[in-house]
Amino acid sequence: MKVLVVGSGGREHALACTLLKSPNVEQVFCTPGNGGTATTEGCKNIPLPVEDFERIADTIKENDISLVVVGPELPLSIGIADYLQSQNISVFGPTKAGAQIESSKTWAKDLMNDAGVPTATSETFTKAEAAKAYLSEQSAPIVIKADGLAAGKGVIVAQTLEEATEAIDFLFSQGFSKVLVEEFLVGEEVSVLALCDGVTVVPLLPSQDHKRIGEGDTGKNTGGMGAYAPAPVATPEIMKRVESEILQPTVKALQQRGIDYRGVLYAGLMITPEGEPKVLEYNCRFGDPETQAVLPLLETPLDELLLACTEQKLARQPPLKWKQGSAVCVIAASGGYPDAYQKGYPIANIDTATAAGAIVFHAGTSIEREQLLTSGGRVLGVTAVGENFKEAIAKAYRAINGIEFEGIYYRRDIGHRVS
Ligand code: AMP
Ligand code: GLY
Repeated sequence: MKVLVVGSGGREHALACTLLKSPNVEQVFCTPGNGGTATTEGCKNIPLPVEDFERIADTIKENDISLVVVGPELPLSIGIADYLQSQNISVFGPTKAGAQIESSKTWAKDLMNDAGVPTATSETFTKAEAAKAYLSEQSAPIVIKADGLAAGKGVIVAQTLEEATEAIDFLFSQGFSKVLVEEFLVGEEVSVLALCDGVTVVPLLPSQDHKRIGEGDTGKNTGGMGAYAPAPVATPEIMKRVESEILQPTVKALQQRGIDYRGVLYAGLMITPEGEPKVLEYNCRFGDPETQAVLPLLETPLDELLLACTEQKLARQPPLKWKQGSAVCVIAASGGYPDAYQKGYPIANIDTATAAGAIVFHAGTSIEREQLLTSGGRVLGVTAVGENFKEAIAKAYRAINGIEFEGIYYRRDIGHRVS
């Protein structure tokens, strides 16, 4: 079988490598892909923008591709799955209507409230004045969120009401038409990526990412500086509750809205000190970098699972098989990220990292004149699997320590909560 992975990040390289482990997958195309997917055996890049649905569909037909896996939220939120389905192409990823679970926080909140899913209480406003009036009756800390895709920049956790007021003005000034004021939840965050075929929902191992740039989880928010799985905070008892109180009611509520959701339902959860899972956000796709930590532990062939989702046959799948042990992914970023950074620097010693037993997933890399160069903020995701977290962390750091490019930055404390 030939598969097309849409996207160009570390998540997409991890999806491609995992799919290639299956005996049924003969080739993986990536559009547009990156330096990793360009150099992985069995993988081939097709340099098309993810928004160019027509040319993507032509490529799929020309190359006899039988399954498309969409990585990022943007093409999903503008209807890539709808378009490809209309061309009779099997696609793993929700339709535009389903992707609203991520593209509109107010839509997602309404869905959660209708489904009775535990989440922070919130109010939505279309005018700054009304939001501020509501704020004056609340107490800090409090969370201010933009409605709409904001590439991680639409959420402000305000420590004071003054900061919250500024956040409201800031988000409206950025052109967002709706802003949410939300209750601040305390606890530990967990990502649950669940496979969904429109009816049945099957969670993968829980994981945790490190969103902040600085050690000790401080500083600016990023796309994610590292991840680990399985996250011990999500115990089997909590995962049972996640399935029955969150995932299943959500899929039912989607069905009630006429949405046949076939893709990843990603629940960003807060586990409260009382051990109750509450939803912070939904995403309509695999997490990045959680995918780079979760998939190396999966033993069931990924293509079988994704096909079962597109064919609505997930209920017939045997239980997922997982490797025993732990996985840790450490992101190597360009100096300056998440602010401005330079690109185009040569990358050295990936082979040494691989020889040290790590898997190096590429994110922001490209090949130019046969030279591997940095081309993004997050450059590489160095993943290691070990018998336990201590071993996985040591292995990942041994590997990443040898990698070189100008300005390389990575956190030295990924997995600090579990080591
Ligand atoms: P979101 O994009 O909604 O996941 O928000 C980004 C980050 O903001 C989350 O990963 C949390 O760290 C934090 N956050 C969002 N909502 C809340 C909340 N209601 N209470 C506490 N922290 C939150
Ligand atoms: N790691 C967070 C995300 O994928 O949105």
